[in-house]
Parts: sequence; structure tokens; C-alpha cells
Amino acid sequence: MNEIAQAVEILGKGGLVAFPTETVYGLGADATNAEAVRKVFTAKNRPYDHPLIVHLARLEQLTEWAREVPPIALQLAAAFWPGPLTMVFKKQSTVLDIVTGGQDTVGIRIPSHPLALALLEAFGGGVVAPSANQFTHVSPTEVLAVQEELGERVQLILDGGACAVGLESTIVDVSSEIPTILRPGMITLEMIAKVTGGVVKVASREESTVRAPGSHHLHYAPNTKTLLLSADEILSWLSVLANNERVTIMVHSDLEVPMHDRIHLVKMPAQADAYAQTLYHTLRCLDREHLAAIAIEAVPAGAAWEAIRDRLNKATANR
Ligand code: TXA
Ligand code: MG
Repeated sequence: MNEIAQAVEILGKGGLVAFPTETVYGLGADATNAEAVRKVFTAKNRPYDHPLIVHLARLEQLTEWAREVPPIALQLAAAFWPGPLTMVFKKQSTVLDIVTGGQDTVGIRIPSHPLALALLEAFGGGVVAPSANQFTHVSPTEVLAVQEELGERVQLILDGGACAVGLESTIVDVSSEIPTILRPGMITLEMIAKVTGGVVKVASREESTVRAPGSHHLHYAPNTKTLLLSADEILSWLSVLANNERVTIMVHSDLEVPMHDRIHLVKMPAQADAYAQTLYHTLRCLDREHLAAIAIEAVPAGAAWEAIRDRLNKATANR
């Protein structure tokens, strides 16, 4: 039996399958099977009030899940699906409460990764898939990372190599008058505005916390103490380091850091897309080294870096 057929069989029996998407790896279960969905929460140690995204293969399936599909959502779907965009719709009454955290809305995404699409197409129904990591950890962007996060808790992991986007999808709430970005992603505000003729807003901090729970806690965080510092702050921080501390600095600029055997320099890409693609992988590799700290050079202002800034802020929150 090939791996897709095996994955479909596992999903059909209420089991869990991890699979690649273009953003990050997801932990999949049959979205119509409450017991299966419950296993997703258990495997991730995720609180039940954090709703899951339902993944579909085709636009025609949308109305099985969404009870209202506004024209603007169809425009966004035409522009960005399959792809790294999740839209939040008013839900059909048949959508399980355990999927939506009891909310009257449901998050839907059609991913573009060929393996994800092949799986969704072969399964035929909706598949819930949160990122395949432990709650609050860094999302996995390769198979090794999924194994680290979930071990025996997942029956099968489909291997699609490294994820091309590397950060979670942009989430846009289209259930109210004006489309509202609840979570920034590599599909930016500008890209959305271009499609909607400028009709889009960004959720306030409070709004996104209530409507996309999990958006503003310490999230996407390495275990190692991780700091977000300007270039100047990095230099002053290095000058007062205790002399038994091994640290790593992640820089994307040409910042010159004093050479030292305890100070390791990781050169990050200067372009946002390439930076995003490698960010979680880099953090995860550094996390294995038991460093005293990771210092990340603050990234540029500007729309292309918004999602990266968001994840870096969360990875370094409360520290
Ligand atoms: O890129 C992605 O979106 C990945 C891949 C696997 O598709 N999935 C992902 O899922 O990041 P997860 O569960 O880690 O994050 C989903 C986010 C959560 O913050 C959740 O609160 C929000 O989506 N969400 C899901 N359904 C929602 C709803 N009905 N209303 C508001 N927010 C929702
Ligand atoms: Mg997640």
C-alpha cells in the first residue's frame, strides 16, 4: 500500500497522521470524528478552547463547512488558494464543537503542498490539522522536528521535506463585515488589500486573543532563553556576558560581532521569504545545543517582515 492510501486508512479509523503543508507540518485527524479530534488535543497537550483549522482539497467542499461565504472570501480564495491562507467563516451547524472550540465560526484552509493535497483529495473529507508540535513549542518544518515533538503519538508521518514557507498561514476572519487579519503570515496585509480593494483590517490585540485564542500567549518558543535585540543592544549585551556563558547570535545584517569561542554567529538571510523559511529550523537546531541564550537581531520594519516580527515577539515574550 502506498503512503497516501495508508494515511487515508489511518484517518478513516480515527487515527492521527502528520503531513507536510507549504507552511509547517500539520497533525491531521478526520474533522467529523470527535474522538479522533480529541486525540489531536491530547497529543499536543493543547487546551480545548483553541480551535482547529479544517483543511480541504477543493473549493466545492467549502459550503459543507461554511454556512455563509461572502463574495470577498471567494475573491481571496481565487487569489490565494491553494496556499498559506486560512479564512474564518460562520460555521455550518454540523461542524463539531470540539473543532471550533464552541465558537460559531470555523477556520478553513486549502493548502498547496502536493502531498497535503494528495492526502486531502484521497481522503475526501475535511482534516483538522494544527501545527504538529507540543502546545507553545516552535512549529515543525521538517520530519525530524515532528518526530521530536510527537514521537509515538502519531501513527504515520508523510515526508515532504522542508516546508517552503516556514511560518504558519495568514488567518483572515471573513465572518464579519470587514475581513480582519487575526494572525499575520507570509500573505501580507498589502497582498490581501490588493485583492479586496483595500477592504481589510488587522485585529486589535484583544480581538485576536479572543477570536484566535493562542495568538498572544508565549508561543512558538524555544526552550532556550531567547532575546530579541537591536544591533546596538547585541553589542552591549555581549560586553557584559558572564565568561562561562555560551551564546548564539542570529543576525541578518552585516553586524560585526567580536570573535570569541563562546559566541557563535548564525547568519540569517537578508530577504524576508528566505528568513521565514529557515527560522523555525534554525531555532530548533540551536535549541538542541543547550546554550545559555539565543539573541536574535531585530528584523526590519515593513510589511514583508510582519509575520516574522510577530513570531519573534512571541518566541521572546516574557523573557
Ligand atoms: O499554516 C497553518 O495554519 C498550519 C498548517 C498545519 O495548516 N496550522 C496551524 O494550526 O497553524 P494551529 O492550530 O497551530 O493554529 C491555528 C490558529 C489558532 O491560533 C486558532 O486559535 C486559530 O487558528 N483558529 C482556528 N479556528 C478559528 C476560528 N474559528 N476563529 C478564530 N481563530 C481560529
Ligand atoms: Mg500552532
